[in-house]
Amino acid sequence: MNHDEDDTLNPLPDPAERDLETTLRPKDLHEFVGQPKVREQLELVLQGAMQRGAPPDHVLLSGPPGLGKTSLAMIIAAELGASLRITSGPALERAGDLAAMLSNLVEGDVLFIDEIHRMARPAEEMLYLAMEDFRVDVVVGKGPGATSIPLDIAPFTLVGATTRSGALTGPLRDRFGFTGHMEFYSPEELELIIRRSARILGVDLRDDGGREIAGRSRGTPRIANRLLRRVRDYAEVRADGAVTLEVARDALKVYDVDELGLDRLDRAVLGALVRSFGGGPVGVSTLAVAVGEEPTTVEEVCEPYLVRAGMLARTPRGRVATATAWLHLGLQPPPRAPGEATRSLFDDATE
Ligand SMILES: Nc1ncnc2c1ncn2[C@@H]1O[C@H](COP(=O)(O)OP(=O)(O)OP(=O)(O)O)[C@@H](O)[C@H]1O
Ligand SMILES: [Mg+2]
Repeated sequence: MNHDEDDTLNPLPDPAERDLETTLRPKDLHEFVGQPKVREQLELVLQGAMQRGAPPDHVLLSGPPGLGKTSLAMIIAAELGASLRITSGPALERAGDLAAMLSNLVEGDVLFIDEIHRMARPAEEMLYLAMEDFRVDVVVGKGPGATSIPLDIAPFTLVGATTRSGALTGPLRDRFGFTGHMEFYSPEELELIIRRSARILGVDLRDDGGREIAGRSRGTPRIANRLLRRVRDYAEVRADGAVTLEVARDALKVYDVDELGLDRLDRAVLGALVRSFGGGPVGVSTLAVAVGEEPTTVEEVCEPYLVRAGMLARTPRGRVATATAWLHLGLQPPPRAPGEATRSLFDDATE
Protein backbone atom coordinates (compact mmCIF):
# COMPACT_ATOMS: atom_id res chain seq x y z
CA MET A 1 0.00 0.00 0.00
CA ASN A 2 1.25 3.42 -0.82
CA HIS A 3 0.87 5.76 2.10
CA ASP A 4 0.92 8.82 -0.17
CA GLU A 5 -2.54 7.89 -1.33
CA ASP A 6 -3.84 8.11 2.16
CA ASP A 7 -6.00 11.15 2.54
CA THR A 8 -5.82 11.70 6.26
CA LEU A 9 -2.10 11.94 6.79
CA ASN A 10 -0.11 12.90 3.74
CA PRO A 11 1.37 16.38 3.66
CA LEU A 12 -1.20 18.22 1.59
CA PRO A 13 -0.50 17.59 -2.10
CA ASP A 14 -3.26 19.92 -3.23
CA PRO A 15 -2.31 23.64 -3.20
CA ALA A 16 -5.88 24.63 -2.29
CA GLU A 17 -5.71 22.38 0.77
CA ARG A 18 -2.36 23.86 1.69
CA ASP A 19 -3.86 27.37 1.53
CA LEU A 20 -6.65 26.20 3.77
CA GLU A 21 -4.11 24.93 6.28
CA THR A 22 -2.57 28.40 6.31
CA THR A 23 -5.99 29.99 6.86
CA LEU A 24 -6.64 27.70 9.80
CA ARG A 25 -3.30 28.22 11.53
CA PRO A 26 -3.60 29.90 14.93
CA LYS A 27 -1.97 33.33 14.76
CA ASP A 28 -0.97 33.92 18.38
CA LEU A 29 -0.49 32.02 21.62
CA HIS A 30 -4.08 32.72 22.70
CA GLU A 31 -5.52 31.20 19.56
CA PHE A 32 -3.27 28.19 20.00
CA VAL A 33 -5.43 25.55 21.68
CA GLY A 34 -4.04 22.91 24.04
CA GLN A 35 -0.42 22.06 24.89
CA PRO A 36 -0.79 23.97 28.19
CA LYS A 37 2.65 22.91 29.38
CA VAL A 38 4.56 23.95 26.27
CA ARG A 39 2.54 27.15 26.05
CA GLU A 40 3.28 28.18 29.61
CA GLN A 41 6.97 27.38 29.30
CA LEU A 42 7.25 29.18 26.00
CA GLU A 43 5.39 32.21 27.29
CA LEU A 44 8.00 32.55 30.05
CA VAL A 45 10.90 32.13 27.64
CA LEU A 46 9.52 34.81 25.32
CA GLN A 47 8.38 37.20 28.04
CA GLY A 48 11.73 36.96 29.84
CA ALA A 49 13.66 37.69 26.68
CA MET A 50 11.42 40.62 25.73
CA GLN A 51 11.84 42.16 29.19
CA ARG A 52 15.61 41.93 28.81
CA GLY A 53 15.41 43.26 25.27
CA ALA A 54 17.47 40.36 23.93
CA PRO A 55 16.61 37.55 21.51
CA PRO A 56 15.35 34.47 23.40
CA ASP A 57 17.26 31.22 23.66
CA HIS A 58 17.05 28.74 20.81
CA VAL A 59 13.89 26.64 20.88
CA LEU A 60 13.42 23.03 19.84
CA LEU A 61 9.90 21.71 19.22
CA SER A 62 9.49 17.96 19.07
CA GLY A 63 6.53 15.69 18.48
CA PRO A 64 4.60 13.72 15.87
CA PRO A 65 3.44 15.34 12.59
CA GLY A 66 0.54 17.77 12.59
CA LEU A 67 0.61 18.73 16.29
CA GLY A 68 1.42 22.39 15.66
CA LYS A 69 5.22 22.74 15.54
CA THR A 70 5.27 24.94 12.44
CA SER A 71 2.33 26.94 13.78
CA LEU A 72 4.18 27.54 17.05
CA ALA A 73 7.34 28.63 15.23
CA MET A 74 5.30 31.24 13.37
CA ILE A 75 3.65 32.31 16.61
CA ILE A 76 7.06 32.72 18.29
CA ALA A 77 8.17 35.12 15.57
CA ALA A 78 4.84 36.98 15.70
CA GLU A 79 4.93 37.33 19.49
CA LEU A 80 8.47 38.70 19.28
CA GLY A 81 7.53 41.03 16.43
CA ALA A 82 10.41 39.45 14.51
CA SER A 83 10.62 38.27 10.95
CA LEU A 84 10.66 34.57 10.30
CA ARG A 85 13.07 32.88 7.89
CA ILE A 86 12.04 29.36 6.99
CA THR A 87 14.16 26.47 5.80
CA SER A 88 14.42 22.74 6.46
CA GLY A 89 17.03 20.13 7.26
CA PRO A 90 16.91 18.38 3.88
CA ALA A 91 17.29 21.75 2.09
CA LEU A 92 20.57 22.41 3.90
CA GLU A 93 22.61 19.85 2.09
CA ARG A 94 25.82 21.86 1.89
CA ALA A 95 27.27 24.01 4.64
CA GLY A 96 27.33 26.87 2.12
CA ASP A 97 23.53 26.84 1.93
CA LEU A 98 23.34 27.41 5.64
CA ALA A 99 26.14 29.99 5.64
CA ALA A 100 24.23 32.05 3.08
CA MET A 101 21.07 31.84 5.14
CA LEU A 102 22.82 32.75 8.39
CA SER A 103 24.79 35.69 7.02
CA ASN A 104 21.59 37.25 5.69
CA LEU A 105 19.93 37.29 9.10
CA VAL A 106 19.07 40.61 10.71
CA GLU A 107 19.36 41.04 14.49
CA GLY A 108 16.40 39.45 16.28
CA ASP A 109 15.27 37.34 13.33
CA VAL A 110 13.77 33.94 13.99
CA LEU A 111 15.26 31.19 11.84
CA PHE A 112 12.99 28.17 11.55
CA ILE A 113 14.59 24.87 10.53
CA ASP A 114 11.95 22.21 9.97
CA GLU A 115 12.95 18.53 10.14
CA ILE A 116 16.18 19.63 11.75
CA HIS A 117 17.19 15.99 12.42
CA ARG A 118 17.65 15.55 8.68
CA MET A 119 20.33 18.19 8.29
CA ALA A 120 23.63 17.14 6.67
CA ARG A 121 26.61 16.85 9.01
CA PRO A 122 28.72 19.78 7.72
CA ALA A 123 25.74 22.14 8.00
CA GLU A 124 25.03 20.86 11.48
CA GLU A 125 28.58 21.53 12.59
CA MET A 126 28.39 25.05 11.22
CA LEU A 127 25.17 25.55 13.15
CA TYR A 128 26.87 24.70 16.48
CA LEU A 129 29.09 27.75 16.27
CA ALA A 130 26.32 29.96 14.92
CA MET A 131 24.00 29.02 17.79
CA GLU A 132 26.62 29.46 20.45
CA ASP A 133 28.75 32.39 19.33
CA PHE A 134 26.75 33.92 16.46
CA ARG A 135 29.66 33.22 14.18
CA VAL A 136 30.30 31.06 11.12
CA ASP A 137 33.60 29.86 9.75
CA VAL A 138 33.58 30.13 5.99
CA VAL A 139 36.13 27.88 4.35
CA VAL A 140 37.85 29.44 1.35
CA GLY A 141 39.84 27.32 -1.10
CA LYS A 142 40.47 23.60 -1.18
CA GLY A 143 43.10 21.14 0.06
CA PRO A 144 46.11 22.18 2.14
CA GLY A 145 45.79 25.84 1.10
CA ALA A 146 42.25 26.17 2.42
CA THR A 147 41.70 28.78 5.09
CA SER A 148 38.70 29.47 7.21
CA ILE A 149 37.48 33.00 7.67
CA PRO A 150 35.39 33.72 10.76
CA LEU A 151 32.33 35.81 10.03
CA ASP A 152 30.07 37.44 12.60
CA ILE A 153 26.36 36.99 12.17
CA ALA A 154 23.49 38.88 13.77
CA PRO A 155 22.14 37.51 17.05
CA PHE A 156 19.10 35.43 16.12
CA THR A 157 16.81 32.82 17.58
CA LEU A 158 16.78 29.37 16.08
CA VAL A 159 13.55 27.42 16.22
CA GLY A 160 14.05 23.80 15.25
CA ALA A 161 11.24 21.32 14.68
CA THR A 162 11.62 17.57 14.67
CA THR A 163 9.42 14.51 14.64
CA ARG A 164 12.33 12.57 16.15
CA SER A 165 14.27 14.37 18.82
CA GLY A 166 15.94 11.02 19.56
CA ALA A 167 17.64 11.28 16.16
CA LEU A 168 19.28 14.60 17.01
CA THR A 169 22.93 14.51 17.92
CA GLY A 170 23.81 15.34 21.52
CA PRO A 171 25.81 18.48 20.68
CA LEU A 172 22.92 19.93 18.67
CA ARG A 173 20.33 19.10 21.30
CA ASP A 174 22.48 20.68 24.02
CA ARG A 175 22.57 24.00 22.24
CA PHE A 176 18.84 24.56 22.54
CA GLY A 177 17.88 26.53 25.63
CA PHE A 178 14.37 25.14 25.64
CA THR A 179 12.71 22.03 24.25
CA GLY A 180 8.95 21.84 23.94
CA HIS A 181 7.60 18.30 23.79
CA MET A 182 4.29 18.39 21.95
CA GLU A 183 1.69 15.89 23.14
CA PHE A 184 -1.33 14.48 21.37
CA TYR A 185 -4.45 16.60 21.93
CA SER A 186 -7.45 15.53 24.01
CA PRO A 187 -10.81 15.11 22.25
CA GLU A 188 -12.05 18.24 24.08
CA GLU A 189 -9.16 20.32 22.73
CA LEU A 190 -9.69 18.94 19.24
CA GLU A 191 -13.34 19.86 19.49
CA LEU A 192 -12.40 23.47 20.18
CA ILE A 193 -10.04 23.46 17.19
CA ILE A 194 -12.70 21.96 14.93
CA ARG A 195 -15.28 24.54 16.05
CA ARG A 196 -12.89 27.37 15.38
CA SER A 197 -12.10 25.96 11.93
CA ALA A 198 -15.79 25.49 11.15
CA ARG A 199 -16.36 29.14 12.04
CA ILE A 200 -13.57 30.25 9.74
CA LEU A 201 -14.70 28.01 6.89
CA GLY A 202 -18.39 28.79 7.37
CA VAL A 203 -19.38 25.17 8.04
CA ASP A 204 -22.70 24.49 9.77
CA LEU A 205 -21.22 22.28 12.48
CA ARG A 206 -23.46 20.82 15.15
CA ASP A 207 -22.07 19.97 18.60
CA ASP A 208 -22.46 16.22 18.27
CA GLY A 209 -20.91 16.29 14.79
CA GLY A 210 -17.88 18.18 16.09
CA ARG A 211 -17.48 15.76 18.96
CA GLU A 212 -17.57 12.79 16.62
CA ILE A 213 -14.87 14.22 14.34
CA ALA A 214 -12.73 15.16 17.35
CA GLY A 215 -12.86 11.62 18.70
CA ARG A 216 -11.58 10.22 15.44
CA SER A 217 -8.76 12.67 14.78
CA ARG A 218 -5.87 10.64 16.24
CA GLY A 219 -5.16 13.40 18.75
CA THR A 220 -3.91 15.53 15.84
CA PRO A 221 -5.17 19.00 14.83
CA ARG A 222 -4.10 18.63 11.21
CA ILE A 223 -6.17 15.47 10.91
CA ALA A 224 -9.08 17.11 12.73
CA ASN A 225 -9.13 19.94 10.19
CA ARG A 226 -8.75 17.52 7.31
CA LEU A 227 -11.62 15.33 8.51
CA LEU A 228 -13.79 18.40 9.02
CA ARG A 229 -13.28 19.36 5.37
CA ARG A 230 -14.05 15.84 4.17
CA VAL A 231 -17.17 15.64 6.30
CA ARG A 232 -18.23 19.04 4.99
CA ASP A 233 -17.95 17.72 1.41
CA TYR A 234 -20.14 14.82 2.35
CA ALA A 235 -22.64 17.04 4.17
CA GLU A 236 -22.95 19.37 1.18
CA VAL A 237 -23.16 16.67 -1.48
CA ARG A 238 -25.20 13.96 0.21
CA ALA A 239 -27.08 15.83 2.94
CA ASP A 240 -28.35 19.37 3.60
CA GLY A 241 -24.96 20.82 4.53
CA ALA A 242 -25.25 20.50 8.31
CA VAL A 243 -22.56 18.41 10.00
CA THR A 244 -24.54 16.33 12.46
CA LEU A 245 -23.50 13.19 14.32
CA GLU A 246 -25.12 11.01 11.70
CA VAL A 247 -23.55 12.86 8.78
CA ALA A 248 -20.12 12.73 10.44
CA ARG A 249 -20.41 8.98 11.04
CA ASP A 250 -21.56 8.22 7.51
CA ALA A 251 -18.87 10.43 5.98
CA LEU A 252 -16.05 8.96 8.04
CA LYS A 253 -17.14 5.49 7.03
CA VAL A 254 -16.70 6.52 3.38
CA TYR A 255 -13.17 7.76 4.16
CA ASP A 256 -12.17 4.56 6.00
CA VAL A 257 -11.60 6.25 9.34
CA ASP A 258 -12.64 3.87 12.10
CA GLU A 259 -14.18 4.59 15.52
CA LEU A 260 -10.77 5.10 17.10
CA GLY A 261 -9.58 7.29 14.25
CA LEU A 262 -7.21 4.66 12.89
CA ASP A 263 -6.73 5.02 9.16
CA ARG A 264 -5.71 2.48 6.54
CA LEU A 265 -2.00 2.58 7.31
CA ASP A 266 -2.56 2.20 11.05
CA ARG A 267 -4.79 -0.78 10.44
CA ALA A 268 -2.38 -2.25 7.89
CA VAL A 269 0.45 -2.08 10.44
CA LEU A 270 -1.64 -3.65 13.19
CA GLY A 271 -3.03 -6.23 10.76
CA ALA A 272 0.46 -7.27 9.59
CA LEU A 273 1.77 -7.39 13.14
CA VAL A 274 -1.07 -9.63 14.26
CA ARG A 275 -1.72 -11.77 11.19
CA SER A 276 1.76 -12.15 9.66
CA PHE A 277 3.89 -12.07 12.79
CA GLY A 278 1.59 -13.60 15.40
CA GLY A 279 1.53 -10.34 17.35
CA GLY A 280 5.32 -9.88 17.42
CA PRO A 281 7.89 -9.13 18.58
CA VAL A 282 9.03 -8.00 15.14
CA GLY A 283 11.52 -5.33 14.03
CA VAL A 284 10.13 -2.09 12.66
CA SER A 285 11.91 -2.51 9.30
CA THR A 286 10.34 -5.92 8.77
CA LEU A 287 6.97 -4.51 9.70
CA ALA A 288 7.44 -1.59 7.29
CA VAL A 289 8.30 -3.93 4.41
CA ALA A 290 5.18 -5.96 5.17
CA VAL A 291 2.96 -2.89 4.68
CA GLY A 292 5.02 -1.46 1.79
CA GLU A 293 6.11 1.65 3.68
CA GLU A 294 9.31 3.40 4.68
CA PRO A 295 10.40 2.43 8.21
CA THR A 296 10.58 6.12 9.14
CA THR A 297 6.93 6.64 8.14
CA VAL A 298 5.84 3.71 10.24
CA GLU A 299 7.99 4.91 13.11
CA GLU A 300 7.22 8.62 13.04
CA VAL A 301 3.69 8.84 11.64
CA CYS A 302 2.01 5.63 12.62
CA GLU A 303 3.54 4.21 15.77
CA PRO A 304 3.33 7.19 18.11
CA TYR A 305 -0.44 7.12 18.00
CA LEU A 306 -0.72 3.34 18.17
CA VAL A 307 1.50 3.38 21.26
CA ARG A 308 -0.51 6.20 22.73
CA ALA A 309 -3.76 4.34 22.00
CA GLY A 310 -2.37 1.35 23.91
CA MET A 311 -2.33 -0.96 20.90
CA LEU A 312 1.33 -1.32 20.20
CA ALA A 313 4.28 -1.73 22.54
CA ARG A 314 7.88 -1.00 21.67
CA THR A 315 10.08 -3.59 23.34
CA PRO A 316 13.83 -4.16 23.06
CA ARG A 317 13.07 -7.21 20.89
CA GLY A 318 10.68 -5.44 18.56
CA ARG A 319 7.10 -4.28 18.19
CA VAL A 320 4.37 -6.21 19.98
CA ALA A 321 0.59 -6.01 19.54
CA THR A 322 -1.33 -5.57 22.79
CA ALA A 323 -4.52 -7.42 23.64
CA THR A 324 -6.38 -4.19 22.80
CA ALA A 325 -5.04 -4.36 19.26
CA TRP A 326 -6.17 -7.94 18.74
CA LEU A 327 -9.62 -7.11 20.04
CA HIS A 328 -9.83 -3.97 17.88
CA LEU A 329 -9.23 -6.14 14.82
CA GLY A 330 -11.98 -8.48 16.00
CA LEU A 331 -9.54 -11.26 16.93
CA GLN A 332 -8.99 -13.27 20.09
CA PRO A 333 -5.67 -12.22 21.70
CA PRO A 334 -3.24 -15.01 22.62
CA PRO A 335 -2.65 -15.37 26.39
CA ARG A 336 0.86 -13.89 26.15
CA ALA A 337 -0.25 -10.63 24.50
CA PRO A 338 0.51 -7.67 26.77
CA GLY A 339 -2.60 -5.95 28.08
CA GLU A 340 -1.30 -2.42 27.66
CA ALA A 341 1.46 -0.64 25.89
CA THR A 342 4.04 -0.08 28.59
CA ARG A 343 6.47 2.36 27.03
CA SER A 344 5.27 5.87 26.40
CA LEU A 345 5.49 7.68 23.12
CA PHE A 346 8.04 10.17 24.31
CA ASP A 347 10.46 7.65 25.76
CA ASP A 348 12.84 8.20 22.91
CA ALA A 349 12.26 11.92 22.95
CA THR A 350 13.40 12.61 26.48
CA GLU A 351 17.05 12.41 27.30
N1 LIG B 1 -2.84 24.14 18.88
C1 LIG B 1 -3.51 24.32 17.74
N2 LIG B 1 -4.64 25.02 17.71
C2 LIG B 1 -5.32 25.16 16.56
N3 LIG B 1 -4.95 24.63 15.37
C3 LIG B 1 -3.82 23.91 15.35
C4 LIG B 1 -3.04 23.73 16.52
N4 LIG B 1 -1.98 22.99 16.20
C5 LIG B 1 -2.08 22.72 14.89
N5 LIG B 1 -3.18 23.27 14.37
C6 LIG B 1 -3.66 23.11 13.00
O1 LIG B 1 -3.02 21.97 12.43
C7 LIG B 1 -2.34 22.30 11.25
C8 LIG B 1 -1.01 21.59 11.25
O2 LIG B 1 -0.16 22.15 12.22
P1 LIG B 1 1.40 22.36 11.94
O3 LIG B 1 1.66 22.49 10.49
O4 LIG B 1 1.86 23.46 12.81
O5 LIG B 1 1.96 20.96 12.46
P2 LIG B 1 3.47 20.44 12.51
O6 LIG B 1 3.69 19.93 13.90
O7 LIG B 1 4.39 21.48 12.01
O8 LIG B 1 3.45 19.21 11.52
P3 LIG B 1 4.68 18.55 10.69
O9 LIG B 1 5.50 17.76 11.66
O10 LIG B 1 3.99 17.66 9.70
O11 LIG B 1 5.42 19.67 10.05
C9 LIG B 1 -2.24 23.82 11.24
O12 LIG B 1 -2.44 24.35 9.97
C10 LIG B 1 -3.34 24.29 12.14
O13 LIG B 1 -4.49 24.58 11.38
MG1 LIG C 1 5.54 21.52 10.26
